[in-house]
Amino acid sequence: GKGEYEHFMLKEIYEQPTSLAQAIEGRVDPNAGQVSLEDFEPGTFEDVDSVQLVACGTSYHAALYGSLALNQAGVQATALLANEYSVTAPPVTEDTLVIAVSQSGETADTLNALRQAADEGAETLTVTNVVGSTAARVADDALFIRAGPEIGVAATKTFSSQAVMLTLLAQRIADDVRGEPPADLESLLPALADMPEEIDTLLEESAADAIAREYIDSQSFFFIGRGLGFPVALEGALKFKEITYEHAEGFASGELKHGPLALVTPETPVFAIFTGEEDEKTLKNAEEAQTRGAPVIAVCPDGHRAVEVADDHLAIPDTDSDLAGLHANVQLQLVSYYAADLLGRPIDKPRNLAKSVTVE
Ligand code: F6R
Repeated sequence: GKGEYEHFMLKEIYEQPTSLAQAIEGRVDPNAGQVSLEDFEPGTFEDVDSVQLVACGTSYHAALYGSLALNQAGVQATALLANEYSVTAPPVTEDTLVIAVSQSGETADTLNALRQAADEGAETLTVTNVVGSTAARVADDALFIRAGPEIGVAATKTFSSQAVMLTLLAQRIADDVRGEPPADLESLLPALADMPEEIDTLLEESAADAIAREYIDSQSFFFIGRGLGFPVALEGALKFKEITYEHAEGFASGELKHGPLALVTPETPVFAIFTGEEDEKTLKNAEEAQTRGAPVIAVCPDGHRAVEVADDHLAIPDTDSDLAGLHANVQLQLVSYYAADLLGRPIDKPRNLAKSVTVE
């Protein structure tokens, strides 16, 4: 049941300290400086020359997060919309690893892409929440995110666990492909270990409720981020439109000036996500929106330069840039939740949407 919570979505947002601890349990050893993933012994991914990640919706945003983590670790990787795969898939060889990312493991579009890749001779793996799902049976291998059941139609805790799982997997793959652990592993592992407790604090101290109230009457809601903050901007906007029915868009920070800036007015708050990846540029992009009258809400650590510039602030811990976006995402989940609640929306069952989309 929902217990003390009014909605499953809020319960599942608050479960993230636990679901993330479960995702990393036994898979991270900060003392040994290692990622260890069950059956995936060191060397498993030695022959991989490129990675394709296929997924839909929120899982696509996690896949994009994973592909960027792989790129940053020096591995060739692309995230692809599973529903586009049959018409636009890049070629695969037996050295291509295709990863299907799916909470349910039953999404028809994702299963189709997975089967196509397998037919064409790729190595396949699924990152999923459901043991015994079709994806887990069809793929050569499976990695389970162990998030526990997710009832709310809007994916929340499963997104953060998928992204964390893919971040770990990226390290394992990069280590095998490049023959040495990625340089930032040393800072990533302790940051991961601290994440559950930090998210607990973030949830306790979040100003998301007040921010939702302040901007609820706006016309459109924009989300910008750079690097690993970009998939989080997309996810922030998807969650917002899904459950509030308000117009929301996510952009790469640097894209704002290439068109979307035409939409920016005092009625369009801009949530700017700072992950420690060229933050000065993101701040400049946010200021360009602010100059046009848009309120800027900086999602960044306390004491960050953006706090002084922005109109409002949602705090995240000063953590590794590999994970900062996931903390920001929790703040954005809460903003969407409280905005939808203020608007009286049926949060756990938004109109026209289903938890698992088993048709093409
Ligand atoms: C959004 C949402 C959907 C799913 C998508 C894929 O909150 O839940 O966008 O992410 O339908 O579902 P799975 O992950 O089950 O393949």
